[in-house]
Amino acid sequence: MAKGYSDVLIGLQYGDEGKARVIDAIADNYDIIARFNGGPNAGHTIHGKKGKLVLHQVPSGVFYPKKLLYVGSGCVINLEKLFSEIQAIQKLGARLEGRLQISDQISIIQPHHILIDERIGQIIGTTKNGIGPAYADKALRMDKERILNIRLGDILNEEKFFFEAIEKNCKKTFQEYGIPLNTVDVMMKNYKKAFLFIKPYIQTDSLYLNKLVENGKKILFEGAQSFMLDVTKGVIPYVTSSNTMAGSAYVGGDLSPKYHRKTIGVAKVIMSRVGNGPFVSEFGENSEKYCMENGGKAHTREKESNADISSLLSSDDPFEIGKALRILGDEYGSTTGRPRRIGMLDLVQLRYAVMSNGVDELWINKCDLLTDFIRTKSTSIPIITKYQLNKKTVDYVPSSNTLSRQIVPTIEHVQGFSQDLSEIRQFKALPKPLIAFVKMIEKHTGCRIFGIGIGSKREEYLLR
Ligand code: IMP
Repeated sequence: MAKGYSDVLIGLQYGDEGKARVIDAIADNYDIIARFNGGPNAGHTIHGKKGKLVLHQVPSGVFYPKKLLYVGSGCVINLEKLFSEIQAIQKLGARLEGRLQISDQISIIQPHHILIDERIGQIIGTTKNGIGPAYADKALRMDKERILNIRLGDILNEEKFFFEAIEKNCKKTFQEYGIPLNTVDVMMKNYKKAFLFIKPYIQTDSLYLNKLVENGKKILFEGAQSFMLDVTKGVIPYVTSSNTMAGSAYVGGDLSPKYHRKTIGVAKVIMSRVGNGPFVSEFGENSEKYCMENGGKAHTREKESNADISSLLSSDDPFEIGKALRILGDEYGSTTGRPRRIGMLDLVQLRYAVMSNGVDELWINKCDLLTDFIRTKSTSIPIITKYQLNKKTVDYVPSSNTLSRQIVPTIEHVQGFSQDLSEIRQFKALPKPLIAFVKMIEKHTGCRIFGIGIGSKREEYLLR
């Protein structure tokens, strides 16, 4: 029997549930923090002693000097962005030598993937990081004689051959889009420079994590993008390109599933979504169009910052209430800066996520934002408790865009409260309506809530 084990932590909604904060709170219990999916589309904000850092490709846990950080083969990687990210981390005083390990089986995001994503990703509202095209090429493998799926280990073994392959892919796409080829040389030079920098971090032993767990190490897998954006389970096509579910940690994370111990799910009590796609609990019919106007650039944090919060909250228009909550909760994309669409807590969706991923332990964030509902006309907190589809009750989120948009939700209102939560450190001391709210979530999801986020500071977590 191995002495070590692994836990998996994922977001249960549409991303940005505050996963990195939870990891920060529990990281001390683990030896290794590992990623298994996605790439630089992720944005995990963490606060270190020397300042705030948004991590895109390096696992959370950078500010715990003794933790190993592992990037699994299920991710895709942008070498130039990783180069800059490592430098930014080092500037904040954290060392990564010997701590950061990147699987040599990871597929690289090539320059032409980013170009293609910029051209074709608008309707989905992708982060334009080349994620979809990179995963597509991974599955496609070859196009006649051209090699499309290129991995870190390939370059490590046959540098010259695979750099030429990257250049060929790049030139082919440039020609297809009518882009002059004169920038390709500089692009390749930068690419090679980034590879040389990353080289010492490449891990060639694909049993690396298995061996560590056999020797007693404890791993926390950190999901990126969240359950509702899963490429198979989410509402197609408004999803990311990787499997985000808890089970996929044991494919993309390079570890045998026999070491699994428990699954931790993270949710927010005020939901958010970036990019296009159905969002049953969204505040206001116009919210999707408004937030995605001009690719999400029309209504940035700066542009919304002068709004009159009190009049937005007391409006009859749910869209305005959502806008106020976005400003109060600082809900703007950490990778793209786009305004996040805001919605009420959807208990049908949350139960579906808990069941689909076998969540053992639930953490809920942003409970402090619930105090703002007392300033709305109803003074109560709206929550979705039931779905009707074609006049029948359903307990899952359909994966079709058309059907998802036809869902008629039942909205219940629970008692609001105004008490400031920031000084509270014990569950029992929480306002009674919040305790009732927590219990209602537990009843609907069948899952115990472990952590309750009551503010953005490190200590503003209540553990049960
Ligand atoms: P892609 O992953 O860049 O292809 O984008 C596909 C969809 O996933 C878009 O709606 C993005 O806004 C969304 N998305 C990708 N990464 C994240 C994330 O880390 N948080 C929230 N949404 C994300």
